[in-house]
Amino acid sequence: MSTKTQSAPGAASASTDPLALIDVDHVRFWVGNARQAAQFYAHAFGFEVSQLSDLTTGCRDSASFLLTQGNIRLILETPLTTSHPAAEEVRRFGDGVKDVAFTVFDATKAWEQVMRNGGASAYEPRTLTDSRGSVTMAGVQAFGRTVHTFVSRTGGYALPELKQGGVFSPGFATAGDLAVNARNRANPCGLKFVDHCVGNVELGRMNHWVRWYEEVMGFSMFKHFDDKDIATDYSALMSKVMASGNHLIKMPINEPAPGKRKSQIQEYLDWHDNTPGIQHLALRTDDELTSVAELRRRGVDFLNIPEAYYESVWERVNTMLKANGHEMVKEDHQRIRDLGILVDADEEGYLLQLFTKPLQDRPTLFFEIICRRGSRSFGKGNFKALFESLELEQERRGNL
Ligand SMILES: [Fe+2]
Repeated sequence: MSTKTQSAPGAASASTDPLALIDVDHVRFWVGNARQAAQFYAHAFGFEVSQLSDLTTGCRDSASFLLTQGNIRLILETPLTTSHPAAEEVRRFGDGVKDVAFTVFDATKAWEQVMRNGGASAYEPRTLTDSRGSVTMAGVQAFGRTVHTFVSRTGGYALPELKQGGVFSPGFATAGDLAVNARNRANPCGLKFVDHCVGNVELGRMNHWVRWYEEVMGFSMFKHFDDKDIATDYSALMSKVMASGNHLIKMPINEPAPGKRKSQIQEYLDWHDNTPGIQHLALRTDDELTSVAELRRRGVDFLNIPEAYYESVWERVNTMLKANGHEMVKEDHQRIRDLGILVDADEEGYLLQLFTKPLQDRPTLFFEIICRRGSRSFGKGNFKALFESLELEQERRGNL
């Protein structure tokens, strides 16, 4: 899906639909120390520390590192001055995602369309140009602190060039030959692209943001889950999955649901200055077992799945697969259990998934590692097991 480029299907509608999204251009994190965060994501998750923009390249107010793996591009940015807007946000939110940026054919036209649709500007279109080409970016204000930047690229900055290791934008330079990059090439984690990005919003605000994605961004609803799907004795949430017009980009939106005790979504909001934001990025792999084994070897902390989960999972999953005429789960069942991986099936096939613990001190952002074998859903059958595991963690933090 997100591996499609500018010549892919979707191009046909480009002349008529400025909001035809081509790809997740990049995900921008605002962090307290980009240089150290880059080392963490490189060592723990196998990202290449590819390029940077900082004092040495002439950027005077922030330092940014471009990390790449497959078709995933993370920008880790830290403010160098108190007047940079990231300074205030890092103070309020800790490290986290500021911007989920989409590649489009014309960023200015996309931004203008959003303004006509009733959206709010985060920042007006601006173009950086040099002899190599140009990059235009324009920002739209989404839920809470979150921004969607539209990015259009020309010449040597075009997306196909970027995917081949080209320069991110004017102002970026190669990070040089870092030892961690050589180690990662020898020991790949196999992460390919951003499968979905999930946002948390306040109680009662999910439908507002669902309408916003429909009316302002041209998305449509792909799936929804209510608190009967996603509840344990204690906590619950509701979720609707929004998909861009061409279904390349999926953005589930969660809100807390009342339970006996505190929803994990409410815990996120409590530690995120009561402000909506990105809860997790799901990163796609073609081989869940190899990816999770390598990530575990590197010391990534995943949620612990209760042993009891594996007593019922095969019957649940295989019954669904058989009923719909699909092959059974082909991955080694014992290794799935040893690696603590979750499995779920629907009418279209199955998926394997696993969730990290929070990636920073606050219980806010985490990653999901997901592999799809036909299934296009989000692991509804795992919600109960998963939430029980999450609640144990919440309890340890004194937040349940
Ligand atoms: Fe997810």
